[in-house]
Amino acid sequence: MTFTVAIDGPAAAGKGTVARRVAAHFGFAHLDTGLLYRATGLRTLDGTDPVTAARALKAGDLDAEEALRAPEVAQAASRVAAIPEVRTALVDFQRAFARRSGGAVLDGRDIGTVICPDAEVKLFVTASDDVRARRRHAELTGNGHDVSLDDVLSDLRQRDARDSARATAPLKPAVDAVLLDTSQMTIEQAVAEAIAITDARKG
Ligand code: DC
Repeated sequence: MTFTVAIDGPAAAGKGTVARRVAAHFGFAHLDTGLLYRATGLRTLDGTDPVTAARALKAGDLDAEEALRAPEVAQAASRVAAIPEVRTALVDFQRAFARRSGGAVLDGRDIGTVICPDAEVKLFVTASDDVRARRRHAELTGNGHDVSLDDVLSDLRQRDARDSARATAPLKPAVDAVLLDTSQMTIEQAVAEAIAITDARKG
């Protein structure tokens, strides 16, 4: 059985948590596609060419999750993600993951629009800028990163602007995506909603 859940949205909207929990609920595999761009971005920080870095990426590179979560790596990820050849280099891996048997949840920016336009479920998870900044700030400081709320907010806005304005696979909801605004929701409510939508499509 193949069954794909595509979850897109801006940075820190809660899509990672929703994706993980939906995958766990249904026993599906989960791929955080942002890690592909973060791992590529991390390699460019020492001067490696972004396209070379993307083509050389291996699944094991995604394991260094703590290093990949650093704010400077997020910015590098957003910059390399605007390069069409970088995106092309990462397509096959994502599509193969999506069609693996047993079901898959992928979260990112272009899953419902470009990577898996035929996904059985498409969600676009959003939240207000302030809510997203507060959540990301709590996550980063909880992991020992010394950052201010203002810096987190401007980082998110800068990345969202770049991710939405790029010519190739910009951040935007698929026409058939269900919008999930989590600004006023607890994580439990957002997860419950996503599970209910997925359940309805599974039939
Ligand atoms: O989801 P994230 O914050 O870890 O993603 C980091 C950056 O990677 C994000 O600013 C844009 C880029 N990205 C992308 O362009 N397409 C994806 N499917 C996932 C992430």
